[in-house]
Amino acid sequence: MYICLEGIDGSGKSSQSHLLEQWLKDAGYDVMRVFEPSKSAVGKLIRSMLQDSEATDKNFQRTLGLLFAADRMILMEKIRRAEYESSIIIADRSFYSSLVYQNDEEWIREINKHILKPDIVILLDINPETAIKRCEGKDHFENVEFLEKTRKKYMGLASKEKFYVINANNGINKVHDDIKKIIAPKLGMCI
Ligand SMILES: Nc1ncnc2c1ncn2[C@@H]1O[C@H](COP(=O)(O)OP(=O)(O)OP(=O)(O)O)[C@@H](O)[C@H]1O
Ligand SMILES: [Mg+2]
Repeated sequence: MYICLEGIDGSGKSSQSHLLEQWLKDAGYDVMRVFEPSKSAVGKLIRSMLQDSEATDKNFQRTLGLLFAADRMILMEKIRRAEYESSIIIADRSFYSSLVYQNDEEWIREINKHILKPDIVILLDINPETAIKRCEGKDHFENVEFLEKTRKKYMGLASKEKFYVINANNGINKVHDDIKKIIAPKLGMCI
């Protein structure tokens, strides 16, 4: 089973993927947690490029789109292997982040057409002001307008692609419980 958590910066993806990993491990499952950009050489390049002040330029975004697709292709080998070994994969962002952030949907779909898509996508939906407050202290974060625009794109995608949407404004444990309620029945678990 390949689960992906999506959402704007500060929505709680990293926190929730760790909690989900721990809960599933405690229940006896093999779990592999991955994130984008990954730890690959391409992932490292993306991280350094994201620090660039030109990060909003159109061609810069296209370059990022290509690099994310390459990074994802590298990561996919790990994901395939884990799936073959019946592990549960938890991904902190995936292909859908590219659709939302790098624009030009048709082209992004084309360059990602060989990527394995998650079985379950959970969107952590959060109010941008709350997300920004949570990001205080981080070296790089977005403004409210950008986050609002991104949130709307995520919501549009959510209905089209049948994501599960969770209210991520809630406390960390409530969000975790809501995620468990989605995953448990898929695994035949009682909670
Ligand atoms: N439900 C919550 N309530 C309050 N604080 C939270 C909640 N979830 C996460 N946080 C805190 O908010 C901050 C951002 O959370 P986190 O890093 O998990 O978000 P993220 O979606 O991974 O962000 P990014 O996209 O920037 O990586 C962290 O300091 C985390 O401890
Ligand atoms: Mg994170």
